[in-house]
Amino acid sequence: MNDPVSKPPFDPSIQVSPNNPCPFLRGLVGEGFVDGGTVPLRTLSQTIANASGETGLKKSSARVQVRGVALIANGACHILQSMFWGAQLNRLRGGPLDKLGAGSRILGVDGTVSEDQIARLAGFGSTYADPAGGSETGLNASQIQTFMNDNLKRAGNQARWYYSLLMKFEWPILLRIMGKGQGDDRYLSVAEVRTLFNERKFPERVTRRMVSQPVRPPSLILRAVGGLVAALLVFGIVALRFPDQFQPMLPGILGNLVAPPLPRHVEPRAAYWLEQNWALEDRHWFHHASQGTATFPVPYSWFMALEQPRLHFFAKPGMLHDSDHLQRFGFIPSPQTINTDEATLRRFGYANVYDKTRPVPGRLWDPPVNWGKQAENVDGLPVGFARMTGVPDPATGKIGEDRIGLTCAACHTGQIHYKGIDIRFDGGPAMTDLRKLEVTTGLSIAYTLYVPGRFKRFADRVLGPSASDADRDALKQKLSAIGTFLVDWEKTYAKTIEGKTRFNEKTRRDEPQQDTEEGYGRLDALNRIGNQVFSQDMTLSGLSGFEKNLHARDAPVSFPPIWTVPWLKYAQYDASIEQPLIRNAGEALGVTALLNLSDATPKDALFRSSIDIKNLNWIEDLLKGSAPYPKKQLSGLTSPKWPSDIFGDDAWKIDGDRVKRGRKLYADICVECHLGPVNDPVFDIEFPQQSIWSSDRWQSIGDDKFLNEVQKSARGMGTDSSQASVLATRTVQVPGFLKLDPTQNLNGWWNCNLPDVSSTDMPYALGLMVLVDIVSRKAMDDAKIDPKVQNIWWGARKNCPNPGPQPAEKNEPGPWYRARPLNGVWATAPYLHNGSVPSLYWMLSPAAERPKSFCMGGGRDYDPKQVGFAVTDGESCKTGQSRFSTRAADGTDLVGNSNAGHSFDGTPGPGKDGTIGRVLREQERYDLIEYLKTL
Ligand code: HEC
Ligand code: HEC
Repeated sequence: MNDPVSKPPFDPSIQVSPNNPCPFLRGLVGEGFVDGGTVPLRTLSQTIANASGETGLKKSSARVQVRGVALIANGACHILQSMFWGAQLNRLRGGPLDKLGAGSRILGVDGTVSEDQIARLAGFGSTYADPAGGSETGLNASQIQTFMNDNLKRAGNQARWYYSLLMKFEWPILLRIMGKGQGDDRYLSVAEVRTLFNERKFPERVTRRMVSQPVRPPSLILRAVGGLVAALLVFGIVALRFPDQFQPMLPGILGNLVAPPLPRHVEPRAAYWLEQNWALEDRHWFHHASQGTATFPVPYSWFMALEQPRLHFFAKPGMLHDSDHLQRFGFIPSPQTINTDEATLRRFGYANVYDKTRPVPGRLWDPPVNWGKQAENVDGLPVGFARMTGVPDPATGKIGEDRIGLTCAACHTGQIHYKGIDIRFDGGPAMTDLRKLEVTTGLSIAYTLYVPGRFKRFADRVLGPSASDADRDALKQKLSAIGTFLVDWEKTYAKTIEGKTRFNEKTRRDEPQQDTEEGYGRLDALNRIGNQVFSQDMTLSGLSGFEKNLHARDAPVSFPPIWTVPWLKYAQYDASIEQPLIRNAGEALGVTALLNLSDATPKDALFRSSIDIKNLNWIEDLLKGSAPYPKKQLSGLTSPKWPSDIFGDDAWKIDGDRVKRGRKLYADICVECHLGPVNDPVFDIEFPQQSIWSSDRWQSIGDDKFLNEVQKSARGMGTDSSQASVLATRTVQVPGFLKLDPTQNLNGWWNCNLPDVSSTDMPYALGLMVLVDIVSRKAMDDAKIDPKVQNIWWGARKNCPNPGPQPAEKNEPGPWYRARPLNGVWATAPYLHNGSVPSLYWMLSPAAERPKSFCMGGGRDYDPKQVGFAVTDGESCKTGQSRFSTRAADGTDLVGNSNAGHSFDGTPGPGKDGTIGRVLREQERYDLIEYLKTL
């Protein structure tokens, strides 16, 4: 077609489609090198490589690059077509190369050339000496870069993230092909650019290059193979290099191999931990003391040796445990030790926020807990990461390698961001995405096994560089076994869930089970615990067939705050647990404490676990403090105070008049369920009748009084019923040899007064209660805790199912949600048990007006006006954020994600499920919000 003989003379009448916006490709068509329709990729890439004047390897590399760009030029949907037949040069508009106004804008949509824009281009250049003599205006590489940056800036938020990537293949390539001069002085002549645009004609010297190197038409088979290779190269390289952007676009299997996208981490200008009645020692211990969990599937030292599952061609990837990396999952950085200098402590936010010149005050909490050796954080892991040492293999009792797990603080430490400042507080809801971390860890293991070079580095770190081949092989085998288990388990989970149904309360029908994305700030704790204990732990103990106990993670909840909860009679959103040790030990099993449920091990090994019962007890003590009643004061971990002293900003000032009006509204409307506030003495004076301290809801249990919260039926509240249904409807099957007999055991130990149930097929709630009870007793015995001390640790609160509101308030049918005291509520967005409401403003609005779809995570700023997150319905999410949405893409309701109920839209009454109060005027909502800020 275009060898020296057959190339036709330049013919200005050749039409070039206005739908081809690329000046270079227009030149190729205009000069008759290729025709304006479909051009085989090989032809195109050879032609362009010829034009570049490169030789040898550089020329081949130019060809591959051109192929890659040409391949995606018509858009992802046309890849197959492009691969077999070629790029369609008259169809480039609307494809990824068309930057919709974010490019130079020299060529209009109708193919006309704008002289103004060419003049603008020239404005970025300077005068260069033409090697052929004379001088002219041109742009060198750095001027071109400035020009492109300015184009992006001009386009504002119309510019897509990948434009800057694509641009590298446009003007800079043109410079490579058409530039004059060498090195920094190599420039693109503005006059030649003008000719190229206007006349679609290359400078003579470029045409000559192309004409002197013939291009052979490709065979069909070569076309396909070449295309495939280029496709894999481009997609593989780009996707793995930019997983954050590409993962969401990749289909199934390929998507599974690419690390989930993560938001960018922005270093704060400053950070502060709020005062909460805990000393620095208390905090750091709580952040890193192990509760006996091995949440991560590999030993501690292996975890520290894993790399991030990303590919970098010229540098090693960062480590999985890098603080910067883990912060992108929402974790909070933590110092290695608190016995360090003030500047370091301050960097981590441990400055006295009320007197910024001094470090935090000494111990405030009385009596201090003596927990012996302080938990150090030698590797500088984030808050909530704990190293478990002296780990017994629960089957054999043999001490094995140190493990790494999450402790309470991973899920119960809050952080808000505001204008570059991070505010941190203990016991608040975490804004982490644990599922993402789970997947990323699994991929990291897979990459270590399969990406060339990685295992060697991993083994060097774990075993030392001089380790023998045999040791390395053994390590690889063990890691590979773990990898295989993880993959198999994901498959088993997917397959089992696919075949299962659940009862939908709303439609009153059985429907297929399906996961609901947890995302940032949420976790389906209850279903996960069941899956861990009644399925994975049984499988790991060698029992088969118990995958049938798996249940979809379809009831994600917002991490709840845990201050004050030790003094509530019932914990959990559904008020399901009274016994604190059972609550904590159950959680520890759910977060993967090792547990032996095998019938093939010695009898005394059955129910042995790695849970650290001592630490669990200390943690509870630390949270709890001393009895609030009759002192009328909470101690232990107190709720954080609204931080107006940190932000000078007017937005953080408290308006006293509003507070007064808000207090009155609270007394009128909210007290019925949330009771009087626990920390507002003014309220107690103004509304003595409604003061929490004179409430008859303090119930004596043992030597102390506990607040019996108001419980309301899930149906009447109208909020999503999924969480409340988990314990109420899920069932589990257990092997007979475990002799889990809920009726006999719980009645025997706690006088629960339960009717008989089968000991192999039982409600999940009862199965969990009895199993955790047995495991906790075993853990105390194994730790040789004196029976008298054991009794003190248990306390007087029972491990019995919640019988429902007592006295049976207004016949509230189960299941229930309970109304918590609202101290510290300003710090706990998003709201409702399922995190479906982004701010207090929307909590106090008619439910129908609430936003239905918004983004979470990614360091999103806190909004002190609406209190919580200021979102717009249907907003577009930044890279790596998760989307909360009440509906799936196909418009159907997502299970677990309703944002209805607790609605202020009318007069409550029969047939008005979900309505709990009248519509509040805008002023009233802000008065209430102002008051809630002070609690
Ligand atoms: C993996 C995350 C995670 C870890 C680790 C964790 N929790 Fe929780 N915790 C949750 C979630 C989620 C809930 C809400 C469960 C529900 O009600 O459905 C919860 C509930 C609670 C509650 C009840 C709160 C309420 O509103 O009634 C308390 C108290 C609590 N956790 C304490 C702890 C303690 C103490 C530890 C450590 C010993 C711990 N948690 C570890 C996630 C976690
Ligand atoms: C009829 C009882 C009732 C009344 C009246 C009531 N609430 Fe609630 N509230 C509840 C219950 C029950 C929940 C938990 C619902 C859930 O999570 O599904 C709740 C949850 C909340 C939450 C979310 C807490 C969280 O865990 O995220 C806030 C905030 C709240 N209420 C504020 C108020 C305010 C302010 C008022 C008064 C203007 C009020 N409520 C009146 C029963 C009530």
